[in-house]
Amino acid sequence: MDAIDVIVTKRDGRELSREQIDWVIDAYTRGVVADEQMSSLAMAILLNGMNRREIAEWTQAMIRSGARMDWSALPGRTTDKHSTGGVGDKITLPLAPLVAACGGYVPQLSGRGLGHTGGTLDKLESIPGWRALLSNDEMLDVLRKAGAVICAAGDGLAPADKKLYALRDVTGTVEAIPLIASSIMSKKIAEGTGALVLDVKVGSGAFMKTVDRARELATTMVELGTDAGVNTVALLTAMDRPLGRAVGNALEVTESVEVLAGGGPEDVVELTVRLAREMLQAAGVSGKDPEEALKDGSAMDAWRRMITAQGGDPDALLPKAAETMEITAPSSGVLTGLDAYGVGLAAWRLGAGRERKEDPVSFGAGIMLHAKPGDMVRQGQPLMTLHADETSRFERALAALEGSYTIGASGDGGLLPLVIDRITA
Ligand code: URA
Repeated sequence: MDAIDVIVTKRDGRELSREQIDWVIDAYTRGVVADEQMSSLAMAILLNGMNRREIAEWTQAMIRSGARMDWSALPGRTTDKHSTGGVGDKITLPLAPLVAACGGYVPQLSGRGLGHTGGTLDKLESIPGWRALLSNDEMLDVLRKAGAVICAAGDGLAPADKKLYALRDVTGTVEAIPLIASSIMSKKIAEGTGALVLDVKVGSGAFMKTVDRARELATTMVELGTDAGVNTVALLTAMDRPLGRAVGNALEVTESVEVLAGGGPEDVVELTVRLAREMLQAAGVSGKDPEEALKDGSAMDAWRRMITAQGGDPDALLPKAAETMEITAPSSGVLTGLDAYGVGLAAWRLGAGRERKEDPVSFGAGIMLHAKPGDMVRQGQPLMTLHADETSRFERALAALEGSYTIGASGDGGLLPLVIDRITA
């Protein structure tokens, strides 16, 4: 077997055999296939695609490049959620303890933010003492104590994906749906969950800008999960406007705790409850209803146990940014648009996100939205508050927000429904 043969097969639009896929993933992980050869193959895949068999075998080969986690020692069924990421998407924070309170076990491996979408680990790290890096034994211990754990994926999980993702990032090949789907699903399947719910975001603030692309990605991932024996369902959900009212690490933790306390913004509550029901159903767990667990305090109890078991103090004051700036409505009317990408970019420029992997984030930075699309606003009324550690950050954030909100006579500018579609095998 040699790399040129594999590249030429896909360049000419032919199917890769199982032997070719297994060999090229293994050889690339070991450094036998060079980066320039793999980037050429990734481009050929982007241009010519892969069929269901090829994607499944590519995913399995990436899983085999590392370890596979095993939760059979737990007394119940595991279920997890993956979101393709969005602005103000803090759903994992209330969702994992909520599902735990309803009888599911949630082993959630999450990532850090890069670009305009936030990362779950960055949000949780704003809680003093909380630790993202856990060994497998520590994960099991937190799952036993709290029913849910949210932590970083160790280096041993799908190392082929780690290497390939970094290469795609610098070779214009991130967008290939077979490569995105196999990248996400190799990590989720290796994580060892029994059931999986995918939240595939659609809109300006998401990776997938159109419903058609999102549906294609969701269908491919549902097929991959199903073929690997993981009961997998996907929801397509709106990311044309930010989710909830808080965008930024500590601000989003505060909003998540409000949801766990039985309050919080309507859209965050609706999506959290819907995803919790999907996760429980996919795992075949028929415990307490999620709405009930938010009302009776059991979801909050699970959150407190989970945060404490990972070294965090659930009662600690969260970091606050030193400076704030209010943006007011320039005229009276209805807020007809609030673009997710513009708000995400502004929050990132305020310090909530990072430019390079190794950069720190500001825990207190971000944006609080005081109005959402469809709300009536009066001239001079606060529309949003910007939070940053230095006033010098406001100017570039304001530039990102230019044209991101519109005030008109009526309507919400034709927003996508919060849940657009449900995809099953
Ligand atoms: N997230 C991943 O883990 N992989 C991709 O390819 C894209 C998003």
